[in-house]
Amino acid sequence: MTINNNTRLIGLIGSPVEHSLSPSIHNALYDIFDMNFVYMTFDVKANELQKAVEGMCALSFAGFNVTIPYKQEILKFLDDIDEEAKMIGAVNTVTLHNGNLKGYNTDGMGFIEGLKRMGFNPLNKDVAIIGAGGASRAICVYLLKEGVRCIYLINRTHQKSLELAKEFNSQYNSEIIIPIEKQELKCANLDLIVNTTPVGMWPQIYGNPLEDFKFCAHTVVVDIIYNPKETRLLQEARRQGCTVQNGIDMLIGQALESIKLWTGIDISYNHCKKILEGNIL
Ligand code: ATR
Repeated sequence: MTINNNTRLIGLIGSPVEHSLSPSIHNALYDIFDMNFVYMTFDVKANELQKAVEGMCALSFAGFNVTIPYKQEILKFLDDIDEEAKMIGAVNTVTLHNGNLKGYNTDGMGFIEGLKRMGFNPLNKDVAIIGAGGASRAICVYLLKEGVRCIYLINRTHQKSLELAKEFNSQYNSEIIIPIEKQELKCANLDLIVNTTPVGMWPQIYGNPLEDFKFCAHTVVVDIIYNPKETRLLQEARRQGCTVQNGIDMLIGQALESIKLWTGIDISYNHCKKILEGNIL
């Protein structure tokens, strides 16, 4: 990687940021694909978000990523927000053109691309999503955009899934999102199950959000966790004949969608995965 007068900066703002894999992923890709960008992380204090954004504008950053705890708070500093990001209520990617800041949420985009790479088309499909937090919202919005038939929503705090369903159903003027209790979930008509909770993530790797569940082999099961690469949920689903996908697809996918927004360059997922796997991931 050569840094010269034309090198453009891309930032990640959040707190904490030191465990993020994004700098390794982005800088490896910029290097290999000969893109004159550098990706840097910035741990921004609670009352300094505005200053951080102004600083990136003043320094002509190409754009930036936003992570916890600023994915919602960043909205008030943006000039424009993409339709889906607005509905999700959270932004993880900001583009900066001539001082104009536009926010996007590439998590949902990366997730959908991962499904499509498996040959799974969400149109008219029945889906179950576990969790009702930020990741769940991003995935719900993009699945709705793709025309799913229904989404069963299961969450530890049931009230939160009721609220999310009410909010999204009223925006779509439909009853597509159906909040249910975990014990009501039956595999029979499910085309897809997605875990968006941290249950099963390192170091609590023995956790399984669907303990003792009887899967049907036709159901595709996705866990957005990437550490470990195969969670208990995926191990069990695969053992029962399901096709499974881990969170690496979404992790790489959201990075590639962000790069496309900042640079216009569309990097091949498979090429990228080969570069990152066993090295960074
Ligand atoms: P993210 O942005 O990663 O989605 P989040 O917004 O904090 O993170 O949401 C985390 C989700 O995982 C929530 O749905 C949370 O359930 P609650 O609404 O009950 O908090 C769920 N979750 C977190 N830890 C969990 C656990 N140990 N068991 C079950 N669900 C859990």
